[in-house]
Amino acid sequence: MAAKEIIAKLRSAAPVIVPSLLAADFAHLEQEIRRLEEAGAQILHLDIMDGHFVPNISFGFLVIEAIRRSTHLPLDVHLMISEPGRYLERFRKAGADLLTIHIETVDDPRPLLREIRRLGAIAGLSFNPPTPIEAVECYLCDADLVLVMSVMAGYGGQEFDLQALDRLRHLRAAVGGNDLLLSVDGGINDHTIGLCAEAGADMFVTGSALFGRHDYRQAMEEFRSLALTHKNI
Ligand code: DX5
Ligand code: ZN
Repeated sequence: MAAKEIIAKLRSAAPVIVPSLLAADFAHLEQEIRRLEEAGAQILHLDIMDGHFVPNISFGFLVIEAIRRSTHLPLDVHLMISEPGRYLERFRKAGADLLTIHIETVDDPRPLLREIRRLGAIAGLSFNPPTPIEAVECYLCDADLVLVMSVMAGYGGQEFDLQALDRLRHLRAAVGGNDLLLSVDGGINDHTIGLCAEAGADMFVTGSALFGRHDYRQAMEEFRSLALTHKNI
């Protein structure tokens, strides 16, 4: 699917629950992906960690390629790596549809965001809780998506940082109704999702809260309806 088409689909499907595979059972990854598809997932979030920009190491090209072969769902690849510019083309070739870089890893994100678009992918920009919002504000028109981190990037299962709500509100006011997709990542569960929806998020990345549940469909539906209810407040 072309980038523009994916963006339009995500916009019209918002609020979108975005499963983060970091919390999946990697011994049965294909089965997990099938279960997510059957549960109504519209996109999958893949966390790439390099042991350098973040202390943790997750997985790389081979696993993305394997996931690409297992599903037609768009792959939302979150790059928690130093020097992301060196690898954009390879991530795209491996199957990424969305590529999100961290502002903390570059002096100027514009050439990389441009490169992501040139490669036919959706360009995302993310920032960690200690990074001031002003650091990303001036690049909003160069990105298709902003990923607000509500935990410090690097690990699943952390507690939601409430300051993410102010950031979402601020960004929502800055971008208005529909231009940019606003995604939030970290500590999203049935308590925090409504708050994020109310603050203006369109997409909700969720790992441990979703994979900790028996019935993915029921969990996804619950999360989505909580987001929908609060979105209308
Ligand atoms: C954290 C990752 C997240 C992570 C979220 O660095 O970017 O995508 O999987 O996991 P939970 O939902 O458990 O906080
Ligand atoms: Zn992530």
